[in-house]
Order: sequence, then C-alpha cells, then structure tokens
Amino acid sequence: MAVDSPVTELDKILDAAKRKKPEELLVTYKGVLYPSALCRAETFQALDIMEVRKDDVFLVAYPKCGTTWVKHILNDLTSAVLKNKEEVPPTDHTPLLEFGVPEKFQKIKSFPSPRVFVTHLHYDNIPKAVFGTKAKVLVVFRNPKDAAVSYYHFYNKNPGLPNVSSWDEFFQKFMSGEVCWSSYFDHALAWNKHMDEENIMIITYEEMKENLLGGVKQIAEFLGFSLPEEKIQSTAENATFESMSSKSQETHGKLGSIFFRKGTFIQSNDNHRV
Ligand code: A3P
Repeated sequence: MAVDSPVTELDKILDAAKRKKPEELLVTYKGVLYPSALCRAETFQALDIMEVRKDDVFLVAYPKCGTTWVKHILNDLTSAVLKNKEEVPPTDHTPLLEFGVPEKFQKIKSFPSPRVFVTHLHYDNIPKAVFGTKAKVLVVFRNPKDAAVSYYHFYNKNPGLPNVSSWDEFFQKFMSGEVCWSSYFDHALAWNKHMDEENIMIITYEEMKENLLGGVKQIAEFLGFSLPEEKIQSTAENATFESMSSKSQETHGKLGSIFFRKGTFIQSNDNHRV
C-alpha cells in the first residue's frame, strides 16, 4: 500500500478536522490544551521516556514565534552535516515531537545523528533526558504582540483549531493562557531561568529578521557544525520569507498560505494592527 507523504497526511488530518464540532477540536493533557487532530495522551507518555542522544538538537518555540522558519534552517544545516558523513538525512520527521502516534519513537531511534526535534512544549514538559544528556536546545522567542496576532489568525484559518469570534476574545485567552500550549508568558519565564546554561541558546524572531545570515551563523556555531561559508550563505538565502513562502504549497500543503502569512515584526514605535 502506498504511504502518504507527510504533507498529504497533514492535509487529510485537516480535512477530517473540518467535520468535527468546535468542542471536539481540542484535547487537554495535564491541564494544557492541544489540537486533538494531532495530539494524543499515549504520545505524550512515550515522549516522557524517549531516548535522547547528547548530539540531538531540540528546537523549542512557543506557537507562532518562528518554529517553521528555524526548523527549516536546522534541517538545512543538519542535512549538510549528514551528507558530509555520508549519511542519508531522514525525510519523514514528524512535524512536532508531540504530534502523531507513539510508534514513531521506535522509528526515530534509527535516525542518524545529529537528529533535529521540534516542539512547542513548555520547559516542564520537555523530556527530562534532554537536560540530563546536555543535548543542544535552541529556543526561539518573538515579541508577544506579534505572536498573539499571528496566533489569532492561525486559530481562525486553521481547520484544526476552533474559530474565535473576535480579536478581543482571543486576546483574553492568549493573556490567560487558555490557548493551545498554554501561556506564552509562562514559557518565557521558565526559559529565562535557564538562558545562561551552555547547552541552551535563545534566539529571537526579531534578531533573525534583522540579520538572517548572522542568525544562521550563530546557530551553526552553537551546534558546533563546521560548514563552509557558502553553505551558511545558501541556508540564509533559502530561509527568507519570500523563498519559503513561494514553496509553501509543496512543504505545507493546504496550510501553506496560513503558515506563511506576513513574516514581519513591529518596530517599537509602530501602531499594532490586527
Ligand atoms: P505571521 O503570522 O506574523 O506572518 P510558527 O512557525 O512558529 O507557527 O510561526 C509562524 C510565523 O512565522 C508566521 O508569522 C510566519 O509568517 C512567520 N514565518 C515563517 N517563515 C518565516 C520566514 N522565513 N521569515 C520570517 N517569518 C517567517
């Protein structure tokens, strides 16, 4: 039987979500809301005991802070490292660590190092082994105003999430953490306590937007990847908003135009517009 590509699989999951009632779209695990189309308790349980290698790379970002963007950069850099080692980069990484079925952890065991894992999970819900093994953790943050506006549009356009009736309603939910993956502010406070640890690097959406090449260089250095300057350059060129959004249909199927919405950030003296 032919196996669907991750993009086709995601499109099918979202089509199925369109037939659900709004109250069926979310599931709660340990007090936190998640999209029911993609998350299930057994996967969270398997994730708790997942095997972690010291050369694994974990990308952690609150939703809408630039997860897809930095994931693309990491995959590009690690693919180059793997090719240098004559290893074949895996093509079927599940989009987020907490998505999908628990059986995936078995498959992940055969992936060559360095493996890249991506998650929106709160610090407390990240497998403890990540910190024990000193795997590298790259944390991405974004101005909460922009993250909230992006999240508002995502809630309303993504069939896997319930619509919100107005910005005011969403803003209240965002501020009180009644959104998927809970409070932005709790995430920020938790990471703030660990930002000086040597295996953790914090990077912001805004820094990357102002200097993408510098951001890619910083990430490669943090991961200890020694790659030619041309590879760093081409990774940055392939990671511009324009380049990524032009391929969004291919990479994200029906969610393409929803994931790549505006790709901008507010300057401190801008009036914010939803
Ligand atoms: P907007 O909705 O403000 O446009 P995430 O991947 O964490 O869900 O974040 C999505 C946000 O990152 C969206 O913000 C999206 O447009 C933006 N984004 C995605 N790729 C980007 C890129 N290459 N450059 C800048 N922003 C990007």
